[in-house]
Amino acid sequence: MATVEYLNYDVLENRGWALHDRSTFQKAARAELDRTDHGTVEVSTDESILEAAERAGLGWSSKCLQGRCGRCVAVVVDGDVRMDADQEFLTPAEVDAADYCLTCLATPASDLKLVYGVETHEALTHRVK
Ligand code: FES
Repeated sequence: MATVEYLNYDVLENRGWALHDRSTFQKAARAELDRTDHGTVEVSTDESILEAAERAGLGWSSKCLQGRCGRCVAVVVDGDVRMDADQEFLTPAEVDAADYCLTCLATPASDLKLVYGVETHEALTHRVK
């Protein structure tokens, strides 16, 4: 079981907060955001991060559930994920250097801080199906 602290990318955009910055989560904690925008969810070892978010009723974006569409893309700001299944949306550089993951396939390898809803980021939005 891992604890995933999540934060909605729309909140970062609206407030001008940095994406790859752990202090963004401290700002979020002080801002008393709605639980759909910021909070924690427990993820077991046999489910994806997206499955846990759905079980918690968080309503994150998704479509294919197979690593193809990119609608579930997130950025891991702290911690590690496993994403062993084949996927065709993210490049190796996006996974290794920019810490993107697909929450429909990723499982936590540690507790995480994760920004979800990144499919609207200007670098990705034209590729999301
Ligand atoms: S839901 Fe399509 S890539 Fe995750």
